[in-house]
Amino acid sequence: MNSAPQFAEQTASRLEIPDMGIWPVTARIHGTRLLEGDIVIDWDDGKSSHFLALWLREQCPCTICHSEITRETLIDITDIPVDIYATDCRLDDTGYLLVTWSDQDHASRYHPGWLRANCYDDWARAERGVQLPTWDSQFSVPEFDALDVLQEDETLYDWLVALDTYGLTRLRNVPLERGSVAHLAARIGTIRSSNFGTVFEVVSKPDADSNAYLSVELPLHMDLPTRETPPGLQFLHCIENGADGGESRFADAFHAAKILKEEAPEVYRLVTTVDYCFQNRAMDCDYRARGPLIELDSNGNPLSSRINTFLTAPFTHLPREDVKAALEAKHYLMRLLNEDRMRVQFKMAPGDMVAFDNRRALHARTEFFPNTGHRYLEGCYLDRDELGSRLRMLERAKLGAGQVTR
Ligand code: OGA
Ligand code: ZN
Ligand code: ZN
Repeated sequence: MNSAPQFAEQTASRLEIPDMGIWPVTARIHGTRLLEGDIVIDWDDGKSSHFLALWLREQCPCTICHSEITRETLIDITDIPVDIYATDCRLDDTGYLLVTWSDQDHASRYHPGWLRANCYDDWARAERGVQLPTWDSQFSVPEFDALDVLQEDETLYDWLVALDTYGLTRLRNVPLERGSVAHLAARIGTIRSSNFGTVFEVVSKPDADSNAYLSVELPLHMDLPTRETPPGLQFLHCIENGADGGESRFADAFHAAKILKEEAPEVYRLVTTVDYCFQNRAMDCDYRARGPLIELDSNGNPLSSRINTFLTAPFTHLPREDVKAALEAKHYLMRLLNEDRMRVQFKMAPGDMVAFDNRRALHARTEFFPNTGHRYLEGCYLDRDELGSRLRMLERAKLGAGQVTR
């Protein structure tokens, strides 16, 4: 076992860390040891990280294994023997971990902050697998000034953290021009177009190809459940809302999942495992997709919902008794989502924009009456990837890549 040298500053050089991190050292390496060819690090806070040799070798940040230009892997990873093992591991005098390998005399050097940030022992995965907070009718929707979001990265960051955490935010003071929704989207990333356009207009019209373009009530739903991967974000910018009615309502599908897990485990099992079917039969397109109403991640936390009762396609892939149970489970979930205790409701004023996670915060609209005034919204979609990337870029600029938290 080696004990850690006294190092002044542990920073990673640009060339050695393919994801360009300056990794903070949140714990120091107390010692390193080999365990059947794998590498174990004992940290000075009493925790240990056990790195599988093959995992660590694949991540070697050296400039033979990675391009200095692209920071992408250059080697053919299948050239690494799957039974590779470490022949030596120790700390160098700057506090980096040095490993020599059984294969090809290769040696690798790892930043201690990177090792800590990426270790995957049970305790580390448990720390990362914490469920997001969920909300109900008591939620006060986080609000931000759109001009600040457009001009200041600090406010942009705060807005995006709120969007990522709660899946529902409201911007005020959005310029009333058409196209403003696209300017706000551009603060995050690339818009995801659909058959409804790059920016779509929500207005009642005679040749509607979506219930959204009628004036009827829209029950709680997400948009585009008919796509293999529905868009992760939706923005709706209110330019005019002069007609009676037309209020906006939201409910957190992840909160419903939490309640079902406790109170109705069989319903929870069905809505998280059965594939439900969706279709959108327009005059010039025909989209279909299926998936669970609530999809769980590998930690068992809700990852995504796929809920829309006006784009339901028939089940054709299940025996009758399974269909009955699946439909009853859907009714149970929808009744829960529609309870008053679940709902946040308000009427958007001109200059408001709601930005929400389309695969989490279900949205609804009460009926409106076009003969009483004009209602005009513009909307667009983005993928969650854009939000994740922008957040990481803002954190990288603010804190250094090692502190990217998502
Ligand atoms: C939609 C929609 C809400 C509204 O266009 O998909 O849900 O308030 N619109 O009109
Ligand atoms: Zn290497
Ligand atoms: Zn919608």
